[in-house]
Amino acid sequence: MLTSLWRHIVYPPKSVSDTKLSEAFAGKWVVVTGATSGIGEALTHRLIGAKANLFLIARNEEKLKLLCDKARENGCEARYKAIDLRQREKLNAWCKTLEEELPRVSFLFCNAGKSIKRSISSSLDRMHDFDRTMDLNYRSVVALSLALMPSLREADGRIIYTSSVSSRYPFAPGWSAYHASKCAANAWCRTARREHKKLGVKVQVAYMPLVHTPMSDVNETYKNLPAYSADEGACILLKLAMSKKFRYKPWWAI
Ligand SMILES: NC(=O)c1ccc[n+]([C@@H]2O[C@H](COP(=O)([O-])OP(=O)(O)OC[C@H]3O[C@@H](n4cnc5c(N)ncnc54)[C@H](OP(=O)(O)O)[C@@H]3O)[C@@H](O)[C@H]2O)c1
Repeated sequence: MLTSLWRHIVYPPKSVSDTKLSEAFAGKWVVVTGATSGIGEALTHRLIGAKANLFLIARNEEKLKLLCDKARENGCEARYKAIDLRQREKLNAWCKTLEEELPRVSFLFCNAGKSIKRSISSSLDRMHDFDRTMDLNYRSVVALSLALMPSLREADGRIIYTSSVSSRYPFAPGWSAYHASKCAANAWCRTARREHKKLGVKVQVAYMPLVHTPMSDVNETYKNLPAYSADEGACILLKLAMSKKFRYKPWWAI
């Protein structure tokens, strides 16, 4: 009873009507990174329901194929790219082809991400943790945004970045790699917002609170805390993408 009340206050339920989604997304090209799991997968299912045309990005090719098959069965156009977004050279080479591959993109959801919890004192020989987290959570956001900027401009499009509410708080110990990468991307998005007129593309940030997904549920403490479902996380991103706001943050976030 108390848990359910707490859940409703801290995580007020999120939903979005199918009609509104269809009006905003039907027939438009939408790129989703991290489409194979958690929030990105829920987002993909919602977009399939709205008859968006999808370009899905992640590493798990089998899952990407299944999602594209489902999208096509539902009358959407669908393509995918199986790529490890941390691999700079492969990503750079692919980015060069992107404008031709996708000449008009209305929405780019930069959602792929990885969290890592390890203290700095346990990371003395693990510089790769910092590099990899930065490459995925920050660098790939910038690389894809730059490569798709002309296509986004063509469609009066938007970039929606899945950040974390934890990046707005005094930083909890153990999360230095994650927080640094999320804050770098936040800073890039906030600057892009100030350059909106010149860019011709709107950039938005969702400071996401806890969402139950394979990523967060690895942590036993988080697994047992009240949180949003992956579908509610997707609704937060979709509502932001349909709004004029720059950011989503939970009501209780400073
Ligand atoms: N869950 C939360 O509580 C929470 C809170 C705040 C913010 N977020 C943010 O929300 C976003 C989605 O997270 P989630 O909770 O939905 O996690 P998730 O279930 O683990 O999904 C992560 C997605 O990112 C993709 N991905 C991971 N590493 C990749 C790589 N190297 N190259 C390409 N794609 C990669 C994964 O696909 P493959 O494995 O197929 O590559 C998967 O589709 C992340 O940016 C995360 O930081 C989550």
